[in-house]
Amino acid sequence: MDKILEVKNLNKTYVEGGQKLDALRDISFSVERGEFIVFIGPSGSGKSTLLNLIALLDNATSGSILFEGKEILKLKEAQKAKLRLNKFGFVFQFDGLLPEFTVLENINMPALIKGKNKNKRALELLKKMDIEDLSRKMPPSISGGEKQRAAIARALINEPVLLLADEPTGNLDAQRKERIFKDFAELAAAGITVLMVTHDDHVKNYADKCYKIENGKIILHD
Ligand SMILES: Nc1ncnc2c1ncn2[C@@H]1O[C@H](COP(=O)(O)OP(=O)(O)OP(=O)(O)O)[C@@H](O)[C@H]1O
Ligand SMILES: [Mg+2]
Repeated sequence: MDKILEVKNLNKTYVEGGQKLDALRDISFSVERGEFIVFIGPSGSGKSTLLNLIALLDNATSGSILFEGKEILKLKEAQKAKLRLNKFGFVFQFDGLLPEFTVLENINMPALIKGKNKNKRALELLKKMDIEDLSRKMPPSISGGEKQRAAIARALINEPVLLLADEPTGNLDAQRKERIFKDFAELAAAGITVLMVTHDDHVKNYADKCYKIENGKIILHD
């Protein structure tokens, strides 16, 4: 077995206006390479907080995250940025497309940041996501579901080893949702590790493991 991710005793307390909020409480789990892991839980239970910590977009209060056997929480910012660019792909809860750039440019952007132009791959991914007609459109003029599909294509442009997706199918119809779940299961079968947050129970048919999150705690689901 090849353990790609190990989260140990992870805690996150937000402090705001003198008020403390324990968003994550002693979260521990590990992930094998190529697993499709899903987190399900009510609004406010800490799902986005967890993905953001793994994505190194926010600092943990305590605990440890090993990625490919190395502690990543204590890396310097430049090393974190490198890891994000080279190894991780993200689909955020809100699509995060840049409004001033076309859909195609948005998808190509993580490659351009790496100094590579992957226009051809971007077009292939657009086609895979069924939005090839939208390549020249600007994000504010496409639908919510189309934005989500563009965001998924963007997350895949640099061939990440770990894909982190926060409710990537929230705006999609049932058929498209199933297709994305199936796509993610296929990516996982091809060796890309996928961590996804969703509210949709249907995902259980596709995921290797479903963790239920409640009140900042993780409960093994099935
Ligand atoms: N930056 C922040 N500062 C203070 N509190 C925060 C911050 N971000 C999130 N929280 C709080 O932490 C808790 C967990 O939030 P989180 O966004 O992780 O929930 P979630 O499970 O993703 O919910 P949803 O399904 O609505 O997206 C919530 O109570 C939220 O209000
Ligand atoms: Mg969330």
